[in-house]
Amino acid sequence: MREVKVVLLPGDGIGPEVVGEARRLVDRVADLDGVRVVWESHAVGGCAIDRYGIPLPEGVLEACAASDAVLLGAVGGPKWDTTSPDDPRPEQALLALRAGLGLFANLRPVKPIPALYGASPLRTERIEGTDLLVVRELTGGIYFGESGREGDRAFDTCSYTRAEIRRVAEVAFESALARRRKVTSVDKANVLESSRLWRDEVIRVAAEHPDVELEHMLVDSAAMQLVSRPADFDVIVTENLFGDILSDEAAMISGSIGMLPSASLGGHGPGLYEPVHGSAPDIANQGIANPIATCLSAALMLRYSLDAPHAALAIETAVEQVVGLGYSTRDLGGTCSTHEMGELLISAAG
Ligand code: IPM
Ligand code: MG
Repeated sequence: MREVKVVLLPGDGIGPEVVGEARRLVDRVADLDGVRVVWESHAVGGCAIDRYGIPLPEGVLEACAASDAVLLGAVGGPKWDTTSPDDPRPEQALLALRAGLGLFANLRPVKPIPALYGASPLRTERIEGTDLLVVRELTGGIYFGESGREGDRAFDTCSYTRAEIRRVAEVAFESALARRRKVTSVDKANVLESSRLWRDEVIRVAAEHPDVELEHMLVDSAAMQLVSRPADFDVIVTENLFGDILSDEAAMISGSIGMLPSASLGGHGPGLYEPVHGSAPDIANQGIANPIATCLSAALMLRYSLDAPHAALAIETAVEQVVGLGYSTRDLGGTCSTHEMGELLISAAG
């Protein structure tokens, strides 16, 4: 047995519930690749603010950096919402982890399961065949630019360097090579200087990948085309804030944001895996949250960070099977509890 260490960051709201099911599922399938997972849990986000007064307690970033992978639930909730610039916020933990681990590329695959076509607000004939990957830049742009308040004025700055654009564009082009070989670069080059640099650098990266087709799209138009002809997209690469917004929009193609996983990669250290959805405080502690996005994130973790491709595939196949049989949680109109869905996935996978 090969032992690997995974840091578990359950976080707030439904985070602990969904992460709990993913952990049990991983424990069940990991030996398909001869892997045994040693888990180490830490508090981050709102629960860490309650316990320690800060969202990312001392030592957690170091523990993550020393692990093979990080699996995160979700952070945040109305309890910690604040408009004061001086109060701690749960989301700071997530941003500090992304920056501290150098996770500049966030991969969000969107491939609706045919059994759920009817659950999407979009008509089946529009979403049929959709299989796209959002590659979101994750450690730059307006999320990390200079910001502040001066009297009655506040500002956030969007800035990018060529090097930051190049490395995420390379991830997009490399990903496209293993897919349908098309990259859509989304920007706002008709208005923003940072977008014009983005476009210019993406064109340079494209020149080094002659087998991949590149198209540029303005973000407002991309928002529209994502719902009018989603199946035409292959890889979408875009800056941090545009990627945040477009990936939530793309999530609804699969019927529920409760289905969408993500992988944050980059540095030489571990990757971070988390569902695209948030902490859903309105349904927390009721045992009804959909654990599938977190389970699929765990599958990405097994594949990209833990060298356990059979275990990853077992989870993905189990999800398709269980959902295909008509089982779902309430977000998709079903009646399964979080735990029941976890149980169904475990028996289908192993
Ligand atoms: C996401 C989330 C985060 C983001 C929040 C919680 C800071 O919305 O991962 O998409 O904006 O990046
Ligand atoms: Mg988001």
